[in-house]
Amino acid sequence: MLSESEGEKGGLKRSLGPLNLVTLGIGAIIGTGIFVLTGEVAASYAGPAVVISFVIAAIASAFAGLCYAEFSALIPIAGSAYSYGYTTLGEIVAWIIGWALILEYGFGAATVAVGWSGYISSLLANFHVFIPAALTAAPGTDLVMVAGNWIKAASATPEQLVGAQHMMGSFNLPAFLGILAVTTILVIGIKESANVNTAIVAVKVSVLLVFIGLGVQFLFLSGHLSVATANWHPFIPANTGHFGDFGWSGVVRGAAVIFFAYIGFDAVSTAAQEAKNPKKDMPIGILGSLVICTILYIIVAGLTTGLMNYTQLKGVAEPIALAVDVTGVRWGSILVKVGAIGGLSSTMLVMLLGQSRVFFTMSNDGLLWKWASKIHPRFRTPYISTIVVGLCVATLAATLPISVLAELTSIGTLFAFTIVCAGVWILRVREPDLPRPFKTPWVPFVPIMGVLVSFSLMLALHLLTWEVFLIWLCLGLIVYFTYSRRHSKVQLALRAAGK
Ligand code: ALA
Repeated sequence: MLSESEGEKGGLKRSLGPLNLVTLGIGAIIGTGIFVLTGEVAASYAGPAVVISFVIAAIASAFAGLCYAEFSALIPIAGSAYSYGYTTLGEIVAWIIGWALILEYGFGAATVAVGWSGYISSLLANFHVFIPAALTAAPGTDLVMVAGNWIKAASATPEQLVGAQHMMGSFNLPAFLGILAVTTILVIGIKESANVNTAIVAVKVSVLLVFIGLGVQFLFLSGHLSVATANWHPFIPANTGHFGDFGWSGVVRGAAVIFFAYIGFDAVSTAAQEAKNPKKDMPIGILGSLVICTILYIIVAGLTTGLMNYTQLKGVAEPIALAVDVTGVRWGSILVKVGAIGGLSSTMLVMLLGQSRVFFTMSNDGLLWKWASKIHPRFRTPYISTIVVGLCVATLAATLPISVLAELTSIGTLFAFTIVCAGVWILRVREPDLPRPFKTPWVPFVPIMGVLVSFSLMLALHLLTWEVFLIWLCLGLIVYFTYSRRHSKVQLALRAAGK
C-alpha cells in the first residue's frame, strides 16, 4: 500500500505540516457538540456534571485516538480506518469499515449542516432577515408558531401547542447550500481548504476563548461567584428513578451523547497522504487536537452551567450564546453565533474532505468505480468523488432530521473505532517487529478498552439506528459482491498469479 501511494505520479499533494494537521483536527472536532449539545446534556441527563460527561467521553476518545495515532504513522494512507482494516483484517472487513465511514463522514457532515442551518437562520433573524420556515426544516418536520416564531413542535411546551398554527417543513435550504459551498472549496484544493480551515479554526477557538474570558471575568473577578456556586449546586442532581435521568447513570448517558463532540480527530488520518512528514506529524495532529479540544470543552461546559442554571437549558439551540448574555456583554451572543457558524463550517469541511479521501482510496484499490479516484489535472484533488459526495450529503442534510443523522453518524464512527482498536492489537501480535514510528502505550490494555468502550456506546443507541445500520451494511455487501470483488486489484493480482 505504502509503495503504491509513494510511487504515484500526479497523486495527492504533500503540503500539510504539523500545525495544519492540528488545526485540521480542531476544525473537525469543535462543532455541534459544544455549541449545541452541551445545554441539552446538562438539562436532560447530567446537570452541572456535564463536565464529568465531557471527561468520560474524552477518555473514551483517547483510547481510540492512541490507536489511530499508531496506525496513521505506520500506514499514512488517505483511507484511514479502511486502509488499517485492509492491512490487518483483509479486504471484506476493510470494505465494511469503508462503508461504515460513509456514515461517519457523510452523515456527520449532514448532521452538522443541519445545526449550521439553525444558527444561520437565528443570526439572520437578529438582522431582521427571515428565511421562510418551510425552507429551514426537513420534509415532515412539524413546525408551530410560538410568539411570532416558527419552532419545532417537538421542542414546544404543551401550553405553547394549544391552538397554535402548524406548518410542515419541506426542504432545509441553508443546509443544502452550505454543503454545496464547502464542496466548491474542496474541489479547488487541499492547501486552499487547509488555509480556509486554519482561518476558521482561529475564529472559533478565539470565540470560545472570549467566552471563557467573559465568563471568568464575570464570575470570578466581578464578585458574582455566588451565582456560580448556586448554579453548580447540586453538582450531580439526584437521579429521578430512571436510568440516565441525572445521578451517575445520567452522567454516563450524557457521556454517550456528548461523545459526538469529539468525533473528528480521526479525520486527520485521512489527510495522511497529503502530510509532509506523516510518520512524525500524524500522532501530533490526532492527539494534539484531541487534548486542546478536551481542555476547551471542560472549561466552556463548566462556565456555561455556572452562568446559567442547567434547568434553564432545556430545548435551547444556542446554550453558549444564552450563557454569555448573563454576563451583560451585549455583543457577546452575536459573537458566539458568528463563531458557531464558522466552527460548524470547518467541521463540515473536514468531514467532507475525509469522505472524498476514503472514496478515493477505495477506488484506487479497485473496490469502487474508477471515476472516484480521478484527480483534477490542475487542482490535484479527487474532484469527481468530492462533487458526487457533496451532492449526496447536501440532499441528506436537506431532507432528514438531525436526530436520525446524528445517531447514524455515531454508530458508524463507533464501529470504525472498534475495528481500529482491535486492529492495533492484532497487528502487534502478527507483526511485532514492524517499525512503528508511534506506539500506542499499554497494549493490549488500551486497544481492549477502546473496543469495550466504543462497543458499549454503540449499544446505548436506539434500536432503529441499529436496524438502519444493518440494512446499510447489507447494501454495502451487495455492492461488494456485485462490483468490488470482481474489480479489486488484490483479487485480480491473486487471480493472475493463479491463486
Ligand atoms: N465533533 C463534531 C461536532 O461536535 C462532529 O460537531
